Amino acid sequence: MHKIAVIPGDGTGPEVVNEGLKVLEAASKKFGFKYETKSFDFTGKRYLETGKLVDDSDIDELKRFDAIYLGAVGDPDVKPGIIETGVLLKLRFALDQYINLRPVKLYNSSYCPLKDKEPKDIDFVVVRENSEGLYKGLGEFQNKGTKDEVAIQISYNTRKGVERCIRYAFEVARKRERKQLTLCGKTNVLTFAWDLWQRTFNEVAKEYPDVKTDYAHVDATTMWFVKNPEWFDVIVTDNMFGDIITDLGAMIQGGMGIAAGGNINPSGVSMFEPIGGSAPKYTGKNVINPMAAICALAMLLDNIGEGKAGKAIEDAVIKIVQHKLKSLAAGKMGYSTSEVGDLVVKSL
Ligand code: IPM
Ligand code: MN
Repeated sequence: MHKIAVIPGDGTGPEVVNEGLKVLEAASKKFGFKYETKSFDFTGKRYLETGKLVDDSDIDELKRFDAIYLGAVGDPDVKPGIIETGVLLKLRFALDQYINLRPVKLYNSSYCPLKDKEPKDIDFVVVRENSEGLYKGLGEFQNKGTKDEVAIQISYNTRKGVERCIRYAFEVARKRERKQLTLCGKTNVLTFAWDLWQRTFNEVAKEYPDVKTDYAHVDATTMWFVKNPEWFDVIVTDNMFGDIITDLGAMIQGGMGIAAGGNINPSGVSMFEPIGGSAPKYTGKNVINPMAAICALAMLLDNIGEGKAGKAIEDAVIKIVQHKLKSLAAGKMGYSTSEVGDLVVKSL
């Protein structure tokens, strides 16, 4: 029995999670696995009513699940940063989900904003460090509110944190056909953090002679995502750079409507989510694309040992994205949110 915690969240989160749960039910019948879900109301609305975010007892409860399925966080009525840090980052940090795994895969060339790129050209994975860096929240104001104000925001990188992330990335690379790992950093300017990353990368690389290694500055990486995305196989980077380059990655794979990711603790509870936001302007209209959430479900199933079901869902998504949908953008798919979910169920 798989125990899955569901956090529909804000905005369009509940709508896309609903479609994912329909697909989960269909997959369980087809592949003969059992599961139970419990829904958690970690939303901006609840915060505004009760002041509650995610607390330590919630974390203790979530630790008893096999995986977490998350819709979206972010409420325009709440000051930016409160839900993000109090829910999403709290979960990532407290559950030590130190990897943010974001596949960038183009399923249909006609959804790619780049000229002449085909599915074979855009098929890579970003391994984003998910527990340290600038996201650690270290820093201070000095002389706040005066003309001599200074704001300091520190990137915090531990040898252990960097090494476990790099090691994970080598393992991902080793399992792929091309076996190529690129370290994406900024060694030419950020000389403390990226010196540690580069040294650790070089040392760990010695244990993986079968993996080809490479280095690219983060600014050049964004250029190559557009110019030569086919160069990349697996990319490993820190939390902030990973956040930025995966939004660009999502665009070249067809947009937020299809991009999914996993917040992974290899020896704990992992959490899977569509990487787009809560899309307030589309909320409640049944127009948002649920494919990213459905792809996140496929990753979740793979993570809990139902790889066959995960693969079948991905294959169904590919078929529908190639032959049915007019676009991957909200409101332009030619189908409603729930109809897209139904298509996936039917195709399964
Ligand atoms: C993401 C999001 C989050 C991040 C926000 C919502 C805190 O942009 O998952 O990429 O910055 O990590
Ligand atoms: Mn982001």
